[in-house]
Amino acid sequence: MNIEEIAKMMVAKGKGILAADESTGTMEKRLKSVNVECTEKNRLNFRETLFSSNSMKTSISGVILFDETLRQTSSSGISIPELIKKSGAIPGIKVDRGAKSLAGSDKEKITEGLDGLRDRMKEYYDLGARFAKWRAVYSISSSHPSDQCIKSNAHALARYAAIVQEAKMVPIVEPEVLMDGEHTIDKCFDVTSIVLNECYKELKIHNINLKGTVLKPNMILPGASCKQKVSAEEIAKKTLDCLKKNMPKEVPGVAFLSGGQSEVEATKNLNEINKINDTNFHFTFSYGRALQQSALKTWSKSMSDTKKVQKVFDHRANMNGASTQAKWDEKLEQNFAA
Ligand code: 13P
Repeated sequence: MNIEEIAKMMVAKGKGILAADESTGTMEKRLKSVNVECTEKNRLNFRETLFSSNSMKTSISGVILFDETLRQTSSSGISIPELIKKSGAIPGIKVDRGAKSLAGSDKEKITEGLDGLRDRMKEYYDLGARFAKWRAVYSISSSHPSDQCIKSNAHALARYAAIVQEAKMVPIVEPEVLMDGEHTIDKCFDVTSIVLNECYKELKIHNINLKGTVLKPNMILPGASCKQKVSAEEIAKKTLDCLKKNMPKEVPGVAFLSGGQSEVEATKNLNEINKINDTNFHFTFSYGRALQQSALKTWSKSMSDTKKVQKVFDHRANMNGASTQAKWDEKLEQNFAA
């Protein structure tokens, strides 16, 4: 498959991406929150439980892995990327090395990981990965994001995307405007517009084939500490407007991050976006927390009851699969007894 075909598959209707690429540090936080020790065995056990569930075949188009997981072997003896491929999903790999302090700026971050990336991509391809992810983060405050943060992260995203396409893999371009803060939904709209604009300017300079990319943005939301109450309809309308205004038409689609929304909020908002989608872009999910939270809680209490954990994960994945086709509703959500 060439990169344009892979990108189309990643955002195909009815399916979306499972972001299971938490670094060991982030996984430590997640497992601690459910009182489980963060050992390599436990990380593999939880992830393998998800990757061998039924919804992998029906609702998941791809899985983003962390370096450690791409190299692990499942309990059935096949490698984790093979296990994912067997269910019809595409294995992917997070290739950035995290958001680090941006020198010269107060509190902002620059994503690192470009040095040696070309060689790492060759190895990742041989291990079975066919797409990659790089996440840039932007915070909103009265003085942020700065031009420095916007420009340096867009430049890094474009250099990453060029190296990934050279390795015949699809880059997920993820500029995440964070939800933290008191800002209004309109402020999020304005900042996201500027950030996306700058990213596509740099992607063009770096000769990226946009048909072989997937955008992973935030939805347009008010800050987590903002008092403003906003409906799912308004979130959907503003998100669609922002993307229509700033995305080149060659990009096949969008796989949203959940960014701190609850599981049901993330599903409902995506469903609303698809209800009013009047573009050729496909809108799907690439959720981490919003796909894993309930499953993680269940797993922490019943680690050996694989079926029980998978039932919880299948429900969440299938609800999100429905929302990619605007077929989700509250009734469907509740038709589930755990
Ligand atoms: P969340 O959906 O938890 O925001 O994670 C998605 C992701 O991959 C962030 O890089």
